[in-house]
This record gives sequence, structure tokens and C-alpha cells, in this order.
Amino acid sequence: APTVAVILVAAGSGARLGRSVPKAFVELAGSPILARAVDGALSAAEPAQVIVVAPAELMDEARSVAVRAAGPSATGYLTLVAGGATRQASVAAGLTALAPEIETVLVHDAARCLAPPELFDRVAARVQSSGRAVIPALPVTDTVKRVQDDVVLETVDRSELRQVQTPQGFPRAALVDAYARADREYTDDAAVVAAAGVAVLVVDGSDRAFKITTPWDLQRAERLLEEPAG
Ligand code: C5P
Repeated sequence: APTVAVILVAAGSGARLGRSVPKAFVELAGSPILARAVDGALSAAEPAQVIVVAPAELMDEARSVAVRAAGPSATGYLTLVAGGATRQASVAAGLTALAPEIETVLVHDAARCLAPPELFDRVAARVQSSGRAVIPALPVTDTVKRVQDDVVLETVDRSELRQVQTPQGFPRAALVDAYARADREYTDDAAVVAAAGVAVLVVDGSDRAFKITTPWDLQRAERLLEEPAG
């Protein structure tokens, strides 16, 4: 049985995409974002329990999309749970479905459905070797400025900044304990565990792990799917 679980949060509405269906069900080159995300999580070298956190009103639809994407051999690794009103509530719902033998938990946005399988392996391996929380990140390439009321206050030193992605990985107990203690909304899971005093390490992210948020992102993802992976 796998000792790694991926909590795939897919319960958002995706309002910024401007579609009539929630983002997980929007099709990307003929296949729903959720199907591509399930396929990515199950294609990692290390087998994983995949917990799909879906919109509460679309559980049956989410189950059929996820089961079809997983295929008969991997259906046994799939668990579906209903999400909450915020991403953090959806992750908390996912945590209740962890199988007893799980030791490492990866939390991943279904909206980052082109994240390569090796990114899951890289993050999980670093969690296992370090016993710490691990996040994938990319350097910031644009110049960044601190601004107030349309006036530039200063140029920020971008060499110490990173853009953070998912999957973010955690030792199970650290993540569960930090979520039990979280008393406000944080912008990512690493911030939840950092608030509980857990050290967070960074590994190289991937250009393909960008989050599909706007119609422009969807077009970019469709173009990437037309090209050979690389
Ligand atoms: O809205 P955004 O794309 O930033 O959300 C990031 C991820 O969190 C998405 O995959 C989305 O489905 C998920 N989410 C969730 N439950 C919510 C809000 C967002 O599972 N209530």
C-alpha cells in the first residue's frame, strides 16, 4: 500500500476563468482539468493514494471523471471527498480521508494540472529524506517593486524572492497538527505549517506547474499540450 498521499484540491469555482462549470470540469484539449490532474498525480514513480477534493454539488461527476482518468488498475488508490468554502477548508476535508499507512502528504492544486510527475517525486523524496515540509519554487524573473497608491516606494531585491507552486509536501503528522491549530486563513499550506513552527525547504519548481486561473492560462496550457513534453 502507498505511504504517500496526494490531496488534489479541485473544489474551487474558478470564477476568473469565466466558464459556466467549475474549473475542474473545464476541458483542456478534450479532457477535463481534473482528469489531467489525476493522471499527473498517478503517473509519479512513487505510488500514491489520490484524494480528490471536489465541489460538494458535483461529487458524482467528479467521481466519474477521476475514475475514468485513473483507469481500472488505479481506481483502488482513489478517494473522493467534498470540499469546503475556502481552499484551506478543502485541504482540511482531504486530510480526514488519509489512509492509515500514509506517512507523506502532498497537497496539490488540480488547477496546476500540467505539473510533471517527476515534480511529485522530487517533493516527496525531499520530504522523506529531510523530515521537513518541502515546496517547489521558481526564481522571480521580473523586477519587483513595492508600491503604495500608484507610487513606487522601492525596488525589492528579487534574488531572495521565489514564486511558490504545488505539490507542497509534508510529513503527515506535521501537516495534520498544523491544520488542527490553524486559526486563520493562510495563502498556502507551507504557511500553515510554518505558523506551527515547522521548517520549510525549497526544491526546484517547474514551468509546467503554473496554475490555470485566467482564460489566457488555459490557452497557454492548450498550446503546451500541442508540443512534445520538455
Ligand atoms: O482559486 P484558485 O485556482 O487559486 O484555487 C487553487 C486550487 O484550490 C484549485 O485547484 C481549486 O479548485 C482549489 N480550491 C478548493 N476549494 C476551494 C477553493 C479552491 O479546492 N474552496
